[in-house]
Amino acid sequence: MLELRNVQVLYDRAIEAVRDVSLSVPEGQMIALLGSNGAGKSTILKAISGVLYQEDGEIVSGSVVLDGAPLGSRSPADIVRRGLIQVPEGRALFAPLTVEENLLMGGFTRNRAEARDDIERVYALFPRVKERRHQIAGYLSGGEQQMVAIGRALMARPRMIMLDEPSLGLAPQIVDAIFDAIVDLNRSAGLTVLLVEQNAQLALDVTSYGYIIENGRIVLDGPVEALRANNDVQEFYLGMAGGERRSMRDVKHYKRRKRWLS
Ligand SMILES: Nc1ncnc2c1ncn2[C@@H]1O[C@H](COP(=O)(O)OP(=O)(O)O)[C@@H](O)[C@H]1O
Ligand SMILES: [Mg+2]
Repeated sequence: MLELRNVQVLYDRAIEAVRDVSLSVPEGQMIALLGSNGAGKSTILKAISGVLYQEDGEIVSGSVVLDGAPLGSRSPADIVRRGLIQVPEGRALFAPLTVEENLLMGGFTRNRAEARDDIERVYALFPRVKERRHQIAGYLSGGEQQMVAIGRALMARPRMIMLDEPSLGLAPQIVDAIFDAIVDLNRSAGLTVLLVEQNAQLALDVTSYGYIIENGRIVLDGPVEALRANNDVQEFYLGMAGGERRSMRDVKHYKRRKRWLS
């Protein structure tokens, strides 16, 4: 469905954020893009959504291809109409508006009657959002804001949703509720998902195939089972480091430091 072919992105015509990135998101699949802070994950999502220009960023080579046709320099709104939507990092809600107003803003590509129907679907998916529908979005908890941000994206009836670190800063329980909803949308409605996460453990639990990006380049990709079995993935992304040795070393180090302090 969606492909990146050898994409290179520069900011300010000078800073290279992403280099020679190729990846593929087949229709109906959940794909993970993993990497640490600053690796280039958000840049890739912005390149797909067509919003790089807002930050003086540009795809200088390669292409983003939807259903076999390059997106070229289409506007962000046009890309949304074609079914690709991004839930940005940090949710980016309209803070002074109510929850319901935020959801309605997400339905800008639909008519009023369709938007009403879609709002009810969002409420069915996230009952907590329904309870809070008349509250000011800026006052919700982080988890509730993430639910509203996802709900707002769904209002455009996307074929594919791109989530930028949806678990960031949230309690495990609320993360579970959010991930359950995403998995449900994928299984029952066939929604295609590109999930960007620093939390590899979480992402590998729900996706089928993953890409790992470091310093703007894809360094490894494969089915999640293969990634999980990979020693480097275990060490650097799953914190497993050859079984217990690393954690033991950490414990010793910790004790030593404590002794120095006392
Ligand atoms: N607006 C910007 N202007 C200049 N450099 C940027 C901008 N946004 C991101 N970068 C740089 O691009 C690289 C990738 O950033 P980003 O895509 O945000 O990484 P991630 O989402 O994986 O944390 C980083 O080195 C970052 O400093
Ligand atoms: Mg990011």
